[in-house]
Amino acid sequence: MPWARAFASCGSSAIRPARCVGAGVANNAPIGVFDSGVGGLSVLGEIRALLPAESLLYVADSGHVPYGEKSAEFIRERCRGIAAFLLGQGAKALVLACNTATAAGVAELRELYPQLPIIGMEPAVKPAAAATRSGVVGVLATTGTLKSAKFAALLDRFAGDVRVITQPCPGLVERIEAGELNGAATRALLQGYVAPLLAEGCDTLILGCTHYPFIKPLLRGLVPASTSLIDTGAAVARQLQRCLGERQLLAEGAPRAACFWSSGDTGRMQAVLPLLWGEAAAVHGF
Ligand code: DGL
Repeated sequence: MPWARAFASCGSSAIRPARCVGAGVANNAPIGVFDSGVGGLSVLGEIRALLPAESLLYVADSGHVPYGEKSAEFIRERCRGIAAFLLGQGAKALVLACNTATAAGVAELRELYPQLPIIGMEPAVKPAAAATRSGVVGVLATTGTLKSAKFAALLDRFAGDVRVITQPCPGLVERIEAGELNGAATRALLQGYVAPLLAEGCDTLILGCTHYPFIKPLLRGLVPASTSLIDTGAAVARQLQRCLGERQLLAEGAPRAACFWSSGDTGRMQAVLPLLWGEAAAVHGF
């Protein structure tokens, strides 16, 4: 889709192998993906669906989740540490599968690793502005994303005449981390965030946090059938494909597995993987 590039951007347009993995980087080197927790698995799933031959490394920084209420400097420090770890594992590209981490840290990572493909993500303001019929769009995202300069610039650039109402959702990420995608408490919390947006006439809702696609079925039951729900995971996967393709770094061959790390409770992540990733897997300590 033509708008994909607007919110899933690549670090460097130069077609060169990444310095950190050296000239002649192998196509079958892994892709490093991370998030504050398990939310980025929604993006990882899109990457797996589009690029099954890629070997995937995933770090959930669940020991520090949620990022949404933390300072930008704290998140940048986490991004630096996780990126260094993934590059140490031989990653040929990085995906910040987190809107909040992108807002705080993607610019610094691109400065640190100017030749590395680095894909970040932003709330899908441009497609939402194009899709709305009522002229009112709601953005569900973290406080950190919504108060960032990057988000303000996104609105300036793409909102146009559309009225964009932002809604931070504290507490929601924690419920999703716990695998509580359908329970009464999650429903009540979400209802409280969505009802004011509907009352204002929103007919399009942006899921501006990678955790939220996991509660899309719940959300779907709380809004009119005509409401558009827009998230960016698939567009990020396409942008990654484009970036790797430009550098002749796409892997080929049989599907490869993913490896998982968590800075939090590895047993807890292992327990929710079948629900959020569709299969069981070992989770290592990070
Ligand atoms: N999944 C993240 C995002 O896309 C961050 C959630 C959080 O840790 O607050 O913004």
